[in-house]
Amino acid sequence: MRAAERHRNDFARRDPETLARVFRHFGEVECPQVGGRLYGALCAEIADDAELLALAARTSPTQPPPNMLFASAHYLLLADGAHPLAEWYPALASEAPRSPESAFTPFRAFCLEHAEVITPLLETRLTQTNVIQRCSALLPGFAHVSRQNGATPLTLVEIGPSAGLNLQWDRFRYEYDPGGVAWGDPDSPVTVPCELRGTTLPALPELPARIPVAGRSGIDLNPVDVSDPDAVRWLRALIWPEHLERHARLEAAIGIARRDPPTLHRGSAADLLPELLRSAPADTALCVYGTHTLYQFPPDALRATLKAMQAESRERPVDFLTMEGTGDRCSELRRVAYRDGERQTTTLANASPHGRWLEWLT
Ligand SMILES: C[S@@+](CC[C@H](N)C(=O)[O-])C[C@H]1O[C@@H](n2cnc3c(N)ncnc32)[C@H](O)[C@@H]1O
Repeated sequence: MRAAERHRNDFARRDPETLARVFRHFGEVECPQVGGRLYGALCAEIADDAELLALAARTSPTQPPPNMLFASAHYLLLADGAHPLAEWYPALASEAPRSPESAFTPFRAFCLEHAEVITPLLETRLTQTNVIQRCSALLPGFAHVSRQNGATPLTLVEIGPSAGLNLQWDRFRYEYDPGGVAWGDPDSPVTVPCELRGTTLPALPELPARIPVAGRSGIDLNPVDVSDPDAVRWLRALIWPEHLERHARLEAAIGIARRDPPTLHRGSAADLLPELLRSAPADTALCVYGTHTLYQFPPDALRATLKAMQAESRERPVDFLTMEGTGDRCSELRRVAYRDGERQTTTLANASPHGRWLEWLT
């Protein structure tokens, strides 16, 4: 069996042998890819520790045990930054963080000491993040859709917005390099950097000074409320300790959202999208979008969501911008243009799953 296939089959299993394999894979393959030295060092030893594996086995069958165990410990530390284990976490340490290689003993003691609090977190929470840097791909996508619609103000509907932070994409500052292209509010507290890759010219579509937006809302099965400190702490806990820029971006974007909360509807896009599309003002251009979301849809819900856009396009044009993983550490940004019940798909860009780089294709 190929490694990737075995990894998929291991997802919901909680026996010690499988869990040990899952932690080793996470430490050896996933951590180096994203620069996670602390979790990488911990995984090797967790895989040999019966008590920690038994604790991780309490993770809900739909969620990945390594992410959940690490996020649960991080979540508790975020509430108690004075705990000695915090000294191994770059975002929490009072001085230079201690070496990941010496983290296992205090990490193990912390988890076992707090097992009663960690267990319900493992059983009930979700690995639900909100990755702001993905806006580096959305911005040129919106510019493209806006131009295709003659700069008519857009009615935006995000499917799977999580906390809705990316609904406020036009309140951020963007910096694309090489090329030194900047866009947005120079005084924004949120900066979205992005490396441009590839040889196709232009490296980006022309970005108009303003992309007019008439309205915006999101539909999520489980919207994260940024006014709830506990929900925000969990969102922060899911960001890896070394990713200091992501921590800072999240904090700043939450600050914007708290002052002007995004409109989020709770439910499945399959159920709620038709009505949101129907009720959009007639003098606006409809643009539905979603990033790293469709992969979570059961087939029926996915069919119904796409059908809602196709059906609405018999009345008026609908554009759909979708960024999803392709399976090999790359994501694709596509525009699906629904017109008169027909659809035409264009791949606009390749991008890193977290939006760190972008290769514009058209
Ligand atoms: C991996 S998160 C991505 C969040 C955000 N789009 C981002 O890129 O940071 C996927 C989101 O899709 C939501 N979701 C999953 N299935 C959904 C459905 N059928 N309808 C609406 N939202 C859904 C989840 O609750 C979650 O917030």
